Amino acid sequence: MYQPCVPASVQYCLSASYGNEELQNPRMFSIKSLTKPVVFILCLLPLIAGIYSIATNSLVANPVEDLLHLTGEWGLKFLLITLCVTPLQLTFKWLWIAKLRRMLGLYAFFYALLHLIIWVVLEQELDLSAAINEIIEKKYITIGIIALLAMLPLAVTSNRWAIRKLGKKWKPLHRMIYPIAVLVIVHFLWQVRAKDILEPAMHLGFLLVLLIWRFKKIVAG
Ligand code: HEM
Repeated sequence: MYQPCVPASVQYCLSASYGNEELQNPRMFSIKSLTKPVVFILCLLPLIAGIYSIATNSLVANPVEDLLHLTGEWGLKFLLITLCVTPLQLTFKWLWIAKLRRMLGLYAFFYALLHLIIWVVLEQELDLSAAINEIIEKKYITIGIIALLAMLPLAVTSNRWAIRKLGKKWKPLHRMIYPIAVLVIVHFLWQVRAKDILEPAMHLGFLLVLLIWRFKKIVAG
């Protein structure tokens, strides 16, 4: 069980990641102990449902494309869901929600990584030189790779050890999630045909609302 015997600055980052409630009252871990496993399973459902529908629907013309869309869209959705944690926590005083942030962020990375693996293994058929050519030639793929590479340091530093080790540097590093979400939406917008613009535009609108909320918080101090 976590004992809050760390300096104040590091505690701030830990509370951003785990929730003040738990830091002050370790018994909250047992009271809300079901939330995390339930959310963990819920986050896997899009993948399970997607694979099931692709596997059972023989009419699907291009299962690889469908898997790419599924993993890409959920990677982006989990990025946006992760960004909703702080606004929900502060607006509705849902302190418990903070402890889900790390898992939701890691799910964003998990779906994005699957997206890349599907692209390299199934679409590029493991031809690495062809994959590198595509990355250089197609700008939306270049942007996708940059976004995924930028997600990597956030994923590896989302544990308690890294939070303690990085101290005050942890928070600015994890604010990178905002430019990463912008890059992913650019990646999405760049490839869609004009008639399909609605979906990426809705994600962009949602991100803008979150950015305005964050900006107002910074201005309000
Ligand atoms: C790692 C490098 C990446 C590669 C190689 C890549 C590649 C692709 C490809 C080939 C498509 C499908 C384009 C088509 O329909 O013709 C796609 C779509 C998409 N990707 Fe990526 N991507 C990458 C990174 C990411 C990341 C990091 C995210 C999100 C976290 C993401 C989110 C999306 C989304 C939302 C779509 C659109 C899905 C749809 O049309 O419904 N991609 N990507």
